[in-house]
Amino acid sequence: MTKSPLITKLNDQLNREVSTFLRYMRQAAAIKGASNENVRSMYLAEVTDEVGHAQYLANQIAHLGGTPELAPDLSPIPATVDAMLTADIAAEGADVANYIELAHMAESAGHFALKQTMEDQAADEDHHRQEMARLRG
Ligand SMILES: [Fe+2]
Ligand SMILES: [Fe+2]
Repeated sequence: MTKSPLITKLNDQLNREVSTFLRYMRQAAAIKGASNENVRSMYLAEVTDEVGHAQYLANQIAHLGGTPELAPDLSPIPATVDAMLTADIAAEGADVANYIELAHMAESAGHFALKQTMEDQAADEDHHRQEMARLRG
């Protein structure tokens, strides 16, 4: 059975979310020093948000008749806090764009609750991006 483009895109974003909460968990564990405590706290807090995003996507894939397929990216984390924030600001921006595209796809398919939640998750990622930009300075 071929998967619909919507299920394929939801699964791609699920893998981005799982990769993100694993990366934020690893980065929070790696960050040391009192001067970096705000960045460490931010990453710990965002793990919870990203797990929630992943859980919603997995449930929707199943609801639409698919099966969540996990292949997280476990690439090494950046060596410095500044490099972590720079990479993650870009990643959060890509997630905003992905969720806007998913919202359009969901609306076209008549899935209005999914459309609205994709917009909500786009707003969450935009908030994360702004918080990281503020912390990077
Ligand atoms: Fe997320
Ligand atoms: Fe995020």
